[in-house]
Amino acid sequence: MAQVLWSGRLEAKPEAEAFDFESSISVDARLALDDVRGSRAHAAMLGSRGIIPAEAAAKLDEALAAISAELESGALAIDTNVEDVHSFIEGVLTERLGDLGRMVHAGRSRNDQVALDVRLYLKRVVPELAGEVRSLISALLDRAEEHAESVMPGYTHLQRAQPVTLGHHLVAWCTGLDRDAGRLSDAVRRLDECPLGAGALAGSGLPLDRAATAAALGFPRPTLNSMDSVADRDFAAELSAACAILMTHLSRFSEDVVIWATEEFGFIDLAEQWSTGSSIMPQKKNPDFAELVRGKSARAIGDLVTLLTLMKGLPYAYDRDLQEDKEALFDSLDTARACVRMFRGMMASARFRRDRMEAACVGGFLEATDVAEYLVRKGLPFRKAHEVAALIVRDCIADGQKIVADRTLAQLKVRSELFEADLFSAITPAACAAARSLPGGPSPSAVRAQIAELRGRLKG
Ligand code: ARG
Repeated sequence: MAQVLWSGRLEAKPEAEAFDFESSISVDARLALDDVRGSRAHAAMLGSRGIIPAEAAAKLDEALAAISAELESGALAIDTNVEDVHSFIEGVLTERLGDLGRMVHAGRSRNDQVALDVRLYLKRVVPELAGEVRSLISALLDRAEEHAESVMPGYTHLQRAQPVTLGHHLVAWCTGLDRDAGRLSDAVRRLDECPLGAGALAGSGLPLDRAATAAALGFPRPTLNSMDSVADRDFAAELSAACAILMTHLSRFSEDVVIWATEEFGFIDLAEQWSTGSSIMPQKKNPDFAELVRGKSARAIGDLVTLLTLMKGLPYAYDRDLQEDKEALFDSLDTARACVRMFRGMMASARFRRDRMEAACVGGFLEATDVAEYLVRKGLPFRKAHEVAALIVRDCIADGQKIVADRTLAQLKVRSELFEADLFSAITPAACAAARSLPGGPSPSAVRAQIAELRGRLKG
């Protein structure tokens, strides 16, 4: 077992298996560069406050800079036999500098250190994830633009409801994703405070300069309360919630894709490289990427539940349980990022089958609402118009007709004298979709306005 940072008080040490159990380096190794950054700011502050000699601070900074460069180049490998990443970095420093290395931890605890490292890490990776979400939106908007006029059935209860456009459906997805990106950015804004100087829970009696380390590390301010700084992980839960909501969106979109890719629907033809085959059925072309994105949403939701459950019974301030936060949080972020990227690749290369989507608008009487609205425009109260249209649907079914336009004007007039020949051009799928041109609607012009708005937000 490697040297631990707390060996003074305890003579006996955990057995190897127990040490592995309590070690977190396999998970927190990814914080190494952030840990070094925090140590550099802390050491510089210790020097400028005269807590350690200025020359010692300079030597520490030099050694830490070298460690950082070696970690990046791969020259320094992380020793996985150490308890955690903080012990590893301090261990290397002490190995190289002797007693000077032992100076760096004055006024600091691994409790504020880990709280800092995770925040620094999140400030790096969450904007990247938000950027990935934005490029997914951008790719989907390209497809929406291409298909602003492609008519398809819109569904409620998975029953054909009213004609919409594929552009409208895709922009519906993008609107949710836009809020997801916003949630990620909001969470980063809230966690943007520096916990360094909170110590184990009660700060330090040494004259640390918390504002200086916060500023050196790019935080607008230090955290307000030292116990809160080491005890709370609400930012982890919040980000994990943002990821779980994002993943729930992707899961639903994937469900749409899986349905569209069936022979029965046939609305989408996924690219071969974004499909998989079967080891036994030679004909198969399966939407496994969509299914895996849908499946991985379960992990993201599980991670959120893990984090909330982890925290709910913990007495203030720090408890070692909190070490478990990182695996769930990192998994949330990694899973979301991978899924966003896969979903983008799958959707950017998919071919949409306009013929099938348009054909699916025939049958199911998606134009019935438009028949009713036609009558409303001619002065009939909506409830009566609804009844007339419903009776016409019944007539069609009784006569084996698939669409209202299969009936003659004379047949329609039996139900209402208000019908004229102009009805027929008003109830084609394209006309139905085009008529719904209110802001937010499925008409090509309304969809183009939505696309323009979202594009503007992406730029802003
Ligand atoms: N690896 C620990 C964690 O992630 C670092 C803090 C250890 N603190 C302690 N008091 N044992 O929480």
